[in-house]
Amino acid sequence: MSKELEGDTVRRDLVGWRVLITGASRGIGRKLSLQAAKAGARVLATGRDNNALLELAAEATRNNGECQTLPGDITNAVFRSELLAFAEDKMGGLDGLVNNAGQGTWNHVRGGDEATFRSIMETNFFAPIELIRAAVPMLRHGRTPAILNVSSRCGRCALPSWSEYSASKAALVGMTESLRTEFARFDIDVLLALPGKTATDFLDNCARIEGKADLKFSDGMPPARVASVLLGALRKGTRESWIGSDARWMLLIRRFFPGIVRRLLARKVRQLYATT
Ligand SMILES: NC(=O)c1ccc[n+]([C@@H]2O[C@H](COP(=O)([O-])OP(=O)(O)OC[C@H]3O[C@@H](n4cnc5c(N)ncnc54)[C@H](OP(=O)(O)O)[C@@H]3O)[C@@H](O)[C@H]2O)c1
Repeated sequence: MSKELEGDTVRRDLVGWRVLITGASRGIGRKLSLQAAKAGARVLATGRDNNALLELAAEATRNNGECQTLPGDITNAVFRSELLAFAEDKMGGLDGLVNNAGQGTWNHVRGGDEATFRSIMETNFFAPIELIRAAVPMLRHGRTPAILNVSSRCGRCALPSWSEYSASKAALVGMTESLRTEFARFDIDVLLALPGKTATDFLDNCARIEGKADLKFSDGMPPARVASVLLGALRKGTRESWIGSDARWMLLIRRFFPGIVRRLLARKVRQLYATT
């Protein structure tokens, strides 16, 4: 049973807490890395863009924080092993893992392709799960260890044109819930975050950009705000964080009136695709 289920208020002291953050080169992961380092955590930041990681490390150092970096593709098993070996060698182990790296794909399933869908599943689901599997032996010896999986509101309320992405994030939700109970015996907290629309380059970085709705990610939450909620979740051991008013409304309405959400989304799709 998790500490929170037992009724304890988990207060995780982040000073000196060793945490690996994936997807740290930009967006939410970059802000989280900076905030965590500023709070005194010892951050190991990863992503594929080495220049962006070096800039991140320099900014963290200017703020008197510690942020080491190792660039690579998180879907590569050899790289995942290198990351953990780096954590062992340079930091003496790990206390936390934030699985934040992710990629979207914005297309209807009918117009999509198998290779893209499999690649999305690799990045958003298999990579974080395999990283967790490999990191557990280290994490179980960490101080107040925790794993935080960054899913999406789409992981609990699938959206049309985000079907393949929603499926990958729902799979991450399912695995998070089972790992939470599996890892209770190691005293590792397993936390879940479901952010709503956030003003990052996420849409531009999607594998396919073919949806029809007028989506403006620039209207979304600032990534720094999402990062501060994630940091708070790590501190408090919050099992599930719904981040942003759009995510909270959508998940609440879906919980109590699932038929309304389904009818509204179906009507919108019929309007947008009336001529195709
Ligand atoms: N933005 C939103 O509205 C929103 C909403 C809900 C949930 N989320 C989730 O929040 C997380 C962060 O999203 P974001 O908005 O910050 O997106 P972003 O700006 O596109 O950043 C994505 C991050 O993931 C990394 N990444 C992607 N594929 C990778 C790979 N194969 N190997 C290593 N790193 C990889 C990217 O680094 P490199 O390119 O350098 O590898 C980048 O650092 C994602 O999991 C996303 O699904 C976002």
